[in-house]
Amino acid sequence: MTTDLILAFAHHIAVFGLFGLLVAEAVLLRRGMTSADVARVARVDAAYGAMAGAVVAVGVLRLIFGAKGWPYYEDNPWFWAKMASFGAVALVSILPTIRFLGWRRRLKADPGFLPDEVQVAGARRLIHVQFLLIALVLLFAATMARFA
Ligand code: HEM
Repeated sequence: MTTDLILAFAHHIAVFGLFGLLVAEAVLLRRGMTSADVARVARVDAAYGAMAGAVVAVGVLRLIFGAKGWPYYEDNPWFWAKMASFGAVALVSILPTIRFLGWRRRLKADPGFLPDEVQVAGARRLIHVQFLLIALVLLFAATMARFA
C-alpha cells in the first residue's frame, strides 16, 4: 500500500515536471528568440528527455509493484491506448530535438546565430501537437485505472 502511494506520488511529480518543461519550450519558441533562448531551449529539451525517462521508469515500477499488479494491465486496451499515445508523444518530440541540437551546433560556430522564423514556428507547432497527445494520455490514464 505504501509502495503504491509513493509510486503514485512520484508518477504525478514526474508527469507535472514533464508538462512544465514542455510549457517552458513553448514559451521560449517565440518570434524574436535571442541566442540565449536558443541555448536555453536545447537545455530545457534535454531535461524534458530525462524527465520522460523518469516518467517511464516510475510507470514501469507502478505496473510491477503497484496495488493492482501487471495482470490488471496486460490485457487492458486502455492501458495500451495510453502507451500508444505516449509513444506518439515521443515520436513527435524527435524532430524538435534534432532542430534544437542543430541550432546549438550553429550557435557554437557562430555566437550571433539566430534560427529561421519558419523553423521556430514549425518546432512550436510540434510542441502544441505534444500537448494534445498528452491530453489523450491523461484521458486513457483515467480510463485504464477504472475499466479493465
Ligand atoms: C505523459 C505520460 C503520462 C501521463 C500524463 C500519465 C498520467 C497518469 C495519471 C494522471 C494517472 C492516474 C490515473 C487515475 O488514477 O485516475 C496515471 C496512472 C498510472 N500510470 Fe501513467 N502517465 C504517463 C505515463 C505512463 C507510463 C509511460 C506508464 C508505464 C510505463 C504509466 C503507468 C501508469 C500506471 C501503472 C498507473 C496506475 C493506474 C491505476 O491506478 O490502475 N504511465 N498515469
